Amino acid sequence: MSLGPARRRSAELERHFRQTPDRFRVMTGDRPTGPLHLGHYFGTLHNRVRLQDLGVDVFVIIADYQVLTDRDMADRLGEYKDGLLLDYLATGIDPARSTVFSHSAVPALNQLLLPFLSLVSIAELGRNPTVKDEIANSRQSTVSGLMYTYPVHQAADILFCKGNVVPVGQDQLPHLETTRTVARRFNERYGAVFPEPDALLSAAPLLLGTDGTKMSKSRGNSVPLGATADETARLIKGAMTDADRHITYDPETRPGVSGLLMLAALCLGRDPHDVAEEIGDGGGAALKRTVTDAVNTFLAPMRARRAEYAQDMPYVRSVLRAGNERADAIAEATLDEVREAMGMSR
Ligand code: TRP
Repeated sequence: MSLGPARRRSAELERHFRQTPDRFRVMTGDRPTGPLHLGHYFGTLHNRVRLQDLGVDVFVIIADYQVLTDRDMADRLGEYKDGLLLDYLATGIDPARSTVFSHSAVPALNQLLLPFLSLVSIAELGRNPTVKDEIANSRQSTVSGLMYTYPVHQAADILFCKGNVVPVGQDQLPHLETTRTVARRFNERYGAVFPEPDALLSAAPLLLGTDGTKMSKSRGNSVPLGATADETARLIKGAMTDADRHITYDPETRPGVSGLLMLAALCLGRDPHDVAEEIGDGGGAALKRTVTDAVNTFLAPMRARRAEYAQDMPYVRSVLRAGNERADAIAEATLDEVREAMGMSR
């Protein structure tokens, strides 16, 4: 689905969530490759919690096997998984209502990859624009089979629990298209088992990092949710601005300044043009003070909750264990259905 129709469909879905939240199962997740940051918060985390609070069933995957798409080994997995769990809990994911789990703990999910791979051609896999982009930017000297096939693995993430809504940024739309293709072809070949999930496009603007490019876990340009107030001040102090002391919001010509203004605006719930006007001729120093205050004030309650949860890591890890168990039971049931449909039942 291209952008226009995907936007319209997303607006329609929002109405349905309000009327019949119990007809939806939302599937989202993150790769455990580093701490979550403000870009994640405004792009997806707050939306997960909003949907959960509307009564939608939310599944969140910690996509540990997917870490291996663009690197040889998954480093510091335990640390990053703990960090994700803390961020989820601190932002308001409620384990009594939502399910958090990881790839590697749910064998039956991974087994779906086998029949699913038979439903897509090598040519189709090679045409995925997001995968192409990741290959072009990869630091690896070779491209692994997982790099080409992970969108099909992602289809298993979504379909094992019959997720029918996937909140995504634009870069994930091709993956969702793969999921829909897999579901449709499976159903055509073997009988109706899977829904064809819809994308729910995020309304949030792309958040720029401290270097004026997309805020990203791996670029070292982000403000982590779990950073301290001092670390935050330091990160923002080092952010790229420009020589013009008159602060204006103009993302095209002033990406550094505009990225900072957008950060402040989101945290303050205001328009970035207004924030710029207020700073006026104050220059980069005043801009950075405004942004630092806005971010630290906004994140303070979340950080306090995060610190509280961090005091009780046995509890935090038990949330993942319980989620894994729930996901495992669902995956086993779906795999049984799949085997049955394919004539493989024992
Ligand atoms: N590819 C997603 C990302 O990089 C993470 C992910 C893995 C995911 N499996 C998923 C997202 C299933 C939604 C649904 O952010």
